[in-house]
Amino acid sequence: MELNGTAAIVSGGASGLGEATVRELAASGSKVVVADLNSDRGTALASEVGGMFVQTDVSDAESVRAAVAVAASAGAPLRFVISCAGIGWAQRTVGRDGEPHDRAAFGKVIDVNLIGTFNLMSIGAAAVAKTEPANADGARGVVINTASIAGLEGQTGQLAYSASKGGIIGMTVPAARDLAAIGMRVNTICPGIIDTPIYGSGPASEEFKAKLAAPVVFPKRMGTAAEFAHLVRMLIENDYMNADVIRFDGGIRFQPK
Ligand SMILES: NC(=O)c1ccc[n+]([C@@H]2O[C@H](COP(=O)([O-])OP(=O)(O)OC[C@H]3O[C@@H](n4cnc5c(N)ncnc54)[C@H](O)[C@@H]3O)[C@@H](O)[C@H]2O)c1
Repeated sequence: MELNGTAAIVSGGASGLGEATVRELAASGSKVVVADLNSDRGTALASEVGGMFVQTDVSDAESVRAAVAVAASAGAPLRFVISCAGIGWAQRTVGRDGEPHDRAAFGKVIDVNLIGTFNLMSIGAAAVAKTEPANADGARGVVINTASIAGLEGQTGQLAYSASKGGIIGMTVPAARDLAAIGMRVNTICPGIIDTPIYGSGPASEEFKAKLAAPVVFPKRMGTAAEFAHLVRMLIENDYMNADVIRFDGGIRFQPK
């Protein structure tokens, strides 16, 4: 689909993969709503790229409805619904201290990563359904969700995170089938190790990132957020990409640790 002259909404758009996606879509002529908890960074980015910021908690359906309403009245048809908001968590199923995984922490990760993606996809698509078709295929828009290769091959201590990302992967095919009726495609990207603020900053973080990226096959480095955003644009522009779960990982395969 054509990006120019459209509106888009990007959750987690204030940082990392979401921020790069906001920049890419805005540069291609889309009016982008940055939907994020972080209002300082979100407001600054939105004003830089000529978009709009709406403080949003993706785990809260009412909050997502408010953000989608802004995107749907941006003055151009809302076509692209992109979920990048997410949080990490590390805890074993049974800890070294013999304690079972904390229920509240598991629930929080599911709420933000999985329910948050469900909220934006379903509420966003309902708004896209109200637009006129954009081309001869009857296409109205595209959903892109962000899972992780941790949803396919979860590592030690990634029980909650992998469950949340596996859930996103599992929604891809049924959502694509459901949303075909309104002319929407749905694809899910599974990033590997991409250099973003999610890993923190400073010497300890650089050391951690180097260790994580060591098994990458080629190119021998972390991915960049700009490369992720480029993939988002490809998935929007190529009308035959649908119901797919795409690894974006330089060939890495996670080992147990
Ligand atoms: N960076 C990687 O290596 C990597 C790998 C695999 C998957 N991912 C996934 O990609 C997505 C983006 O990660 P990133 O690396 O850009 O991280 P990031 O921390 O740079 O950005 C995440 C953004 O999500 C926002 N956010 C968190 N909770 C939110 C909520 N409840 N409502 C709205 N916004 C919320 C944060 O404020 C932040 O701006 C996440 O879902 C993450 O799990 C990242």
